[in-house]
Amino acid sequence: SQYQKGVRHLCDNGLARVPSKYILPLSDRPNSQSGDQNPSNPNLKLPVIDFAELQGCNRSQVIKCLAKACEEYGFFQLTNHGIESNVILEMIDVSRRFFELPFEERSKYMSADMFTPVRYGTSFNQNKDGVFCWRDFLKLSCHPLSDVLPFWPSSPVALRQAAIDYSKQTKFLYLRLMEAILESIGLVEKPAKNKKDESDALKGFEDGSQLIVVNCYPKCPEPDLTLGMPPHSDYGFLTLLLQDEVKGLQIQHQGRWVTVEPMPNSFVVNVGDHLEIFTNGRYKSVLHRVLVNSLKSRISIASLHSLPFNSTVRPSPKLIDEASPRRYKDTDFASFLEYVSSLGLALETSREDEL
Ligand code: SIN
Ligand code: FE2
Repeated sequence: SQYQKGVRHLCDNGLARVPSKYILPLSDRPNSQSGDQNPSNPNLKLPVIDFAELQGCNRSQVIKCLAKACEEYGFFQLTNHGIESNVILEMIDVSRRFFELPFEERSKYMSADMFTPVRYGTSFNQNKDGVFCWRDFLKLSCHPLSDVLPFWPSSPVALRQAAIDYSKQTKFLYLRLMEAILESIGLVEKPAKNKKDESDALKGFEDGSQLIVVNCYPKCPEPDLTLGMPPHSDYGFLTLLLQDEVKGLQIQHQGRWVTVEPMPNSFVVNVGDHLEIFTNGRYKSVLHRVLVNSLKSRISIASLHSLPFNSTVRPSPKLIDEASPRRYKDTDFASFLEYVSSLGLALETSREDEL
C-alpha cells in the first residue's frame, strides 16, 4: 500500500489530516490519561554527565553520578563528549539529505530482512504493525566495517564517509562509557592493577555490534493522534542518541511520561536491555517514546551498541550472591532480535477503544 512508502512520501504533496492507518487507539495516544498523572509533561532535567570531567581528576565523583543516573533514570545527558562538531554536523546534514532523495532512490534500501547491513523503512515494524507510526528510518549496521560498507547507500555521496567517522567516534565514546560503567559496578578496579586487566574487561565490548539508526519524523498535521515511536526499550548495552533542536523524546520516569529537553552539543545516553541483564537489574532499561509535532520535522540519530551478534548476554557472575540472586535468564542475541521482529504495534483488537 501507499503507506509502505513511508511518511515523507505521504507528506510530499501536503496533508491536512492524519490517515486512519496512523490513528492510535485512544489509550495509546500521547495525551491519554492512563498511567499519566500529569498530562502537562513537566520538563524533566536528566542527570548530566560531563565526559571531560569523567576522564579527569574528578573521575570517582562523576562515576558515582553515573551510577545514580543509570539506577534511577536509565538515562543521562553527556556533555563535553569530545566528538568534533564537524563530524556531528556532517552526519546530520547527510541524514537530512538522504531523506530528501527521491523515493525511488531511498526505496532501493527497503528490506523485510532484519539482518541486512542497511535497511530503509517506515513505522516501527512495517510488516507487522496494525497502526503505523509517524517515522521513516535508515539503519546502518557498522561492524565489521569492511563487510558492511559496500552495502551502505552511495547517495548522497558524502554519506559513507560521514557515517564512518561518526560510527568510529561514537564507538570510542561508548567504550569509554562502558569502562566507567564497569568501574561503577566494581567489575574493573581503578586504577587497574595493570593495563591487561583493563583491556580484558573491555574485550567483548570492543568487538561488539553497532547499529546506527537515523530517524526522520516529518511534521504532522494532527500530532495528538499518533506517535513517532511507540513505547519501547532499546536492546543493547548503551544507546547514544543525538537529537536536533526539536523536542519529541519522552521517557517513563516515576510513572509519568516526561519530555527530554534537547541540550545543544550533547548526547542523550540510555541503558539498554542487555546492560540491565548484565548488571542483574541494577541499571534500568527504561521505556521511551517519541512525540511528533505540527510545526517542525525532526531528525535523531541513535547509535546502539551491544556484544557481538553471536554472543550470549547474562548477568555478570560477580554481581550475583545470596543477597542479590540471579534475576535474568541467558539471552541469545539472535533469537532476541527475531522475537522483536515478530512484534507488531497496536493490534487491531485494541481499536475498540476508539468507539
Ligand atoms: C529511539 O528511541 O531510538 C529514538 C528516540 C528519538 O528519536 O528521540
Ligand atoms: Fe529507543
